[in-house]
Amino acid sequence: MSLSAPSLPMKERFYLGTNWKMFKTNTQSAAWMDGVARLFSGFNPPPGLHLFAMPSHPALSTMRALASRHALPIRIGAQNAHWAPEGEFTGEVSIPMLQDMAIELVMIGHSERREKFGETDEDVNRKTLATLAAGLSALVCIGETKDGKQHDSGDTQLSRQLEGALREVTPDQLPRLLIAYEPVWAIGEQGEPAAPDYVAARHTLIRARLAGRLGAEPAARVPILYGGSVTAGNYLDYALLREVDGLFVGRAAWSPDGFNTLARGLATHLPPHS
Ligand code: PGA
Repeated sequence: MSLSAPSLPMKERFYLGTNWKMFKTNTQSAAWMDGVARLFSGFNPPPGLHLFAMPSHPALSTMRALASRHALPIRIGAQNAHWAPEGEFTGEVSIPMLQDMAIELVMIGHSERREKFGETDEDVNRKTLATLAAGLSALVCIGETKDGKQHDSGDTQLSRQLEGALREVTPDQLPRLLIAYEPVWAIGEQGEPAAPDYVAARHTLIRARLAGRLGAEPAARVPILYGGSVTAGNYLDYALLREVDGLFVGRAAWSPDGFNTLARGLATHLPPHS
């Protein structure tokens, strides 16, 4: 670790996750894992750095197996799951199916699912409750639209999404809850990177809403990740914010090299192995 690198302010842990959306076949996913294993050689991520990758459903099993074969500390998560344990829901994947593959982390409510598949706050809530009740971790995504931001209703949207997602979630389930704040206007090819002070203010709002809903002390421990056009050029602008507990990255982590760059860069800002 470089002696001049400042530690992330008051952080014991930091998350780096990547969402692959509907990209990468099983074969391509395996190649990513093999590539990361090669690039990670000689790199032992500090204990506070929590890495995860969320491939398509068909690649989950392969990714799990390769993470363990290469002894890579990368948790593998699913991009979606249905709330029912089984049933007449053609095309859906259930939580028991994920558990059978030893998958313990599920993304819920990504803006693309909300916008392109009509997922409502109620759906997000059902999925969150089912995921937490089954003992898995839930990464719940929230984010305001461009229109919401322009018309000053962005914070209302965020509060509504958060409140909707967490209805009936109990404080004892919070240790398995993660939030990803991803402004819709900042995500993907057309996205514009958000200003760090804007991100910090939204994270503060989300933390306050969590505290109001579930109590300050348990809420303080829920990781709030930032996502939306994070790149190798701007990631530290977000990561070094006191309010940000992790980064949720699409395009910039789809290559092994991109993921390795971010992981190694973040590692220099976290307390090393003792
Ligand atoms: P992006 O995607 O980093 O490519 O903007 C982020 C996401 O959709 O989670």
